[in-house]
Amino acid sequence: MKSLASYVLVLLCCGLAWSELKTVRKCLREKVVTFPKQTTEDYVQLHSNETMDFSEITVCLRFYTDEESTTLIPFSLTTTFYSTNFTLTWSPPTKQYVLTIQNGKAAFNGLPFNLNQWNSVCVTWEAGSGRAQMFVNEVPSVKKAIGFKEPFKGEPKIILGQFQDGHFGFSPYYVFTGFISDVHIYKEVLTPRLIKNYMEAKIKYKLGDFINWHNLKYTLFGSVQVEEKQHVTFYTKQEVN
Ligand SMILES: *[C@@H]1O[C@H](CO)[C@@H](O)[C@H](O)[C@H]1NC(C)=O
Ligand SMILES: *[C@@H]1O[C@H](CO)[C@@H](O)[C@H](O)[C@H]1NC(C)=O
Repeated sequence: MKSLASYVLVLLCCGLAWSELKTVRKCLREKVVTFPKQTTEDYVQLHSNETMDFSEITVCLRFYTDEESTTLIPFSLTTTFYSTNFTLTWSPPTKQYVLTIQNGKAAFNGLPFNLNQWNSVCVTWEAGSGRAQMFVNEVPSVKKAIGFKEPFKGEPKIILGQFQDGHFGFSPYYVFTGFISDVHIYKEVLTPRLIKNYMEAKIKYKLGDFINWHNLKYTLFGSVQVEEKQHVTFYTKQEVN
């Protein structure tokens, strides 16, 4: 009898755990993901429709945080094929954004980072020249050479809020707490004009053709939650997409 009871309990627990890990497809327009805890348990996985096979990429997102001491990791992407990766971090002690692309690394100085405000970030990179450029809140960086000049190939694993190290584990030395919103990935280098539209958010901007926040397949892990943007911040700008 005892073993039956524990069997039922196990079934119940697994059932609960299973139901929490639901992958859904939704429009997240005017929505944010909230990351309330400093833990390696909390993250969002984004699922693309296709494997990667492109030589240009643009990643755009907005984040909101009050983290001042630990390295922030809003976004990381790995692919198994080339074991390449694409990581965006903010390092508080040096006040730099750091990009890791295909195991190359570059730090960007003097770009805006505002605590308790939305920061809009776009990163572009193309394999031809191997050059990356960042745009933060309408300030463009210089271009820097990063990584092998190889196209992105293979099945991506795209994670918001955790640093994926080489063995697909997460690193406790990188965190994200706060809000993330409007994540779009494009299979091309967007022009500064298109990026400006994204930054301003007021105007209709181009939606991602690889990952589209307005038609997003995602899985939530841990205590992250999807919430309305106007319920968590005084967000007054209205996109018309
Ligand atoms: C990601 O980049 C880091 C830093 O270059 C590297 O150590 C790590 O192995 C890479 N991970 C994958 C899965 O490519
Ligand atoms: C992915 O596929 C779904 C379902 O067919 C489609 O609605 C969506 O627009 C696609 N997403 C992208 C980014 O192409």
